[in-house]
Amino acid sequence: MLRDVVSALPRSILVVGGGGREHALVRALLASPAMPRIVCAPGNAGIAQDVTCVPVAADDIASLVVLVQREKIEFVVVGPEVPLSLGLVDALEKIGVPAYGPTADGARLEASKIFTKQLLLKNKIPTAPAGFFREVEPAIAYLRSRGAPIVIKADGLAAGKGVVVALTFAEAEGAVRDMLAGGKFGAASAQILIEDCLVGEETSLLVVVSGRDYVILPTSQDHKRIGDRDTGPNTGGMGTYSPADVVTPALLARIDREIVRPSVDAIAAEGIAFRGTLFIGIMLTAEGPSVLEYNTRFGDPETQVVLPRLTTDVLALLWAAARGELAGFQLAVKPDSALCVVIAAQGYPDNYAKGDPIRFPKILPDGVTVFHAGTAQNSSGQVVTAGGRVLGVTALAPTLRAAADRAYTACDQIECVSKYFRRDIGARQLNRA
Ligand code: AMP
Ligand code: GLY
Repeated sequence: MLRDVVSALPRSILVVGGGGREHALVRALLASPAMPRIVCAPGNAGIAQDVTCVPVAADDIASLVVLVQREKIEFVVVGPEVPLSLGLVDALEKIGVPAYGPTADGARLEASKIFTKQLLLKNKIPTAPAGFFREVEPAIAYLRSRGAPIVIKADGLAAGKGVVVALTFAEAEGAVRDMLAGGKFGAASAQILIEDCLVGEETSLLVVVSGRDYVILPTSQDHKRIGDRDTGPNTGGMGTYSPADVVTPALLARIDREIVRPSVDAIAAEGIAFRGTLFIGIMLTAEGPSVLEYNTRFGDPETQVVLPRLTTDVLALLWAAARGELAGFQLAVKPDSALCVVIAAQGYPDNYAKGDPIRFPKILPDGVTVFHAGTAQNSSGQVVTAGGRVLGVTALAPTLRAAADRAYTACDQIECVSKYFRRDIGARQLNRA
């Protein structure tokens, strides 16, 4: 990279968040030729082995602003959605510190599913037809008119739990009553969407956006259900791989033409100066790709497989997006495949134990990186479990099969009494090959 480009990059960075996604971001930023100093708030036990962690919560906007000023931070990279929707980037703008991540108006694209659905429908971007409801009776009448299977969604942020894919009318009716009458997700479910059920394979497309300019990152697929063969309840994501071969170059070109370009233009036309990740959840239906949702941040665990495949300087990429200088940015991608297996605490996504010690092998298999998520250090200095998703064991290899073998070898070597992981991450693509 040109020396003047490197010297224009920020030297002190704050990464906000403390999950596997943020560990992957920290590692990618540390690899920048600009060699920045990185602080993470609040981080986790693994991030703390790489950079300085400060115990400020990711949703404590006022304290984060104080931290930025105290540490003379020049650039903030925001991981999770909650600080974005609480206006962290707006607050940083006020003190003149650039950030990667949208302001609160852009974060509404994730924080309100009704806002997004209206934008999609208005701009004729492919998505399932839907109705919006505040009252139980009209919602149930609509259910009756559409029939099951059908999908019920809380409008607001519900930590990934606000969507019910109801296979029967009774289940759909129960979900409507829980959300609208039972206050299941509080204010987040004061309004709901009811949308047609789409059938197909899902893919997660991460797009780095800066106004009307954008760069599409390598494709990936997540595994949302807790159990092997996609059984059991939904989770934040149990594993990923990249590239997703189901998204052929021709299909990606179609997705770009029918979904990405129109989405970026529609968001700009709303008057939103979006600078950050637009994560587009897409269902590949028999009729073509259709938008399930937008998120306004990197995916977790998509980030853990997408960033390790870039040879591009991730700091230069995010900085260019934040500064409105993304036009013409060229991405360089490794030919290798990446696969991430999430090690969760037994019982997740419901109740699970915390505080169980984790023992790591002295030497990890070639190409394996262990990103920490819900981990902490206890008073005797041991790394212990501290969340539902605990680790993201990621392997890079010339083939997906080799990446899976390496990741699973490492998963078996990691010791923890409450460890749980899916055995079939990547199986769909491997079985197709
Ligand atoms: P969302 O948070 O909107 O992406 O929904 C969470 C999950 O629910 C998605 O990843 C899909 O697996 C499923 N889902 C959401 N909307 C639909 C739909 N219209 N049809 C079928 N499945 C859906
Ligand atoms: N892995 C899905 C998400 O980050 O929302």
